[in-house]
Amino acid sequence: MDARNEMLRLIHARRDGFSLEQPFYVDPDFYRLDLELIWYRDWLFVGHDCEIARPGSYFTLQVGAYPVVVVRGRDGVIRALHNTCRHRGSRVCTAQRGMAAKLVCPYHQWTYDLDGSLVFARQMGDDFRKQDFGMKPVACESVAGYIFICLADEPADFAPFRALMEPYFAPHRLVEAKVAYESTIIEKGNWKLVWENNRECYHCAANHPELCKTYPEAPTVTGVSGAESDPDILAHWEHCEAAGLPSRFGIDKSGQYRATRAPLLRDAVSYTMTGRRAVRRNLSDSVSADRIGALLLYHYPTTWNHVLGDHAVTFRVLPLGPTETAVTTKWLVHKDAVEGVDYTLEELTHVWTMTNDEDRRIVEENAFGIGSPAYEPGPYSAEHEGGVMQFLEWYAASIGPRLAETGKPALRDVA
Ligand code: FES
Ligand code: FE
Repeated sequence: MDARNEMLRLIHARRDGFSLEQPFYVDPDFYRLDLELIWYRDWLFVGHDCEIARPGSYFTLQVGAYPVVVVRGRDGVIRALHNTCRHRGSRVCTAQRGMAAKLVCPYHQWTYDLDGSLVFARQMGDDFRKQDFGMKPVACESVAGYIFICLADEPADFAPFRALMEPYFAPHRLVEAKVAYESTIIEKGNWKLVWENNRECYHCAANHPELCKTYPEAPTVTGVSGAESDPDILAHWEHCEAAGLPSRFGIDKSGQYRATRAPLLRDAVSYTMTGRRAVRRNLSDSVSADRIGALLLYHYPTTWNHVLGDHAVTFRVLPLGPTETAVTTKWLVHKDAVEGVDYTLEELTHVWTMTNDEDRRIVEENAFGIGSPAYEPGPYSAEHEGGVMQFLEWYAASIGPRLAETGKPALRDVA
């Protein structure tokens, strides 16, 4: 049986409330199917508008086999382009980030405008049509300071996500913030293990001494149910909404994304060891940092986020291989906040630098154990791991029908 049929069989045989079978976490063919059917199909968070604030500024990234460049044009519009030259395919932009008046391929200097159109190709003959050889566009949207791309030929409608996410995020003005610090760590585990770990706080008390000073481990905060019946959360929503900040739990019907606001412990205002603010200046001029807790957003498969009154911490997940995942964390502050005056990097980044490393270790041990021939799917805690079950439901409901699409073997051929 080929990998596609085997994956489909295992998706249908999946036991609710249990972790996945081993191949989902280790098998190179299953990984390729994840790329093809999830990563090359869904909208992916790639970075922030404020990272490419000026025309000509760009950053690059790699999604599976696809090199992509995200660049701001002279018209101020952010676009994403396939970062592969239309001459013989060289990568055009090789730096992680940069600033350019034009995008010039390093191989034979074909030169593209910031919108991807080819403006110069040396000695290609009289009948060469430059207009036929522009860099190929990638679908790109930006909302409330977040840039998303989609590699699919026919991307899903972005509007519902924009409609849900924008009211929560717009007041925080991430569109004009600045990235004070960025880190990328490599976790030796499948991308789904990174997510499973993120979607529960069953592990927090024993593993995250720093984060647990301020972040509640209650499953009503991390998970996807019960928030409405948690009196602390209800009171928090009322407080924040009275201050004009949408806060109630909002989730997409497919479960792919959710936004909500959560209180921090003991009226902490920031993720610091004391709970006091890490940045003297508020993240947004129009939002007080007083008891607004954390605005939480996840969007599968690339991002989870915590927006506080004084700063925001955003995360981007990118798969590197069947058992390797890159997690990029960015700490955003008000654009005029000054390092050494309004904040120190040590205090700003300490809690999540430690937490990330703790999570890396957990994910790697999880991956290690799953590699054992003795591994078999185990049961999630209904009380604490509802968020993990919901992630896997989204995954199964997304990849199952895509595996079974027309032109591919139907389920009845597989049983
Ligand atoms: Fe880009 Fe030749 S491959 S100019
Ligand atoms: Fe954790």
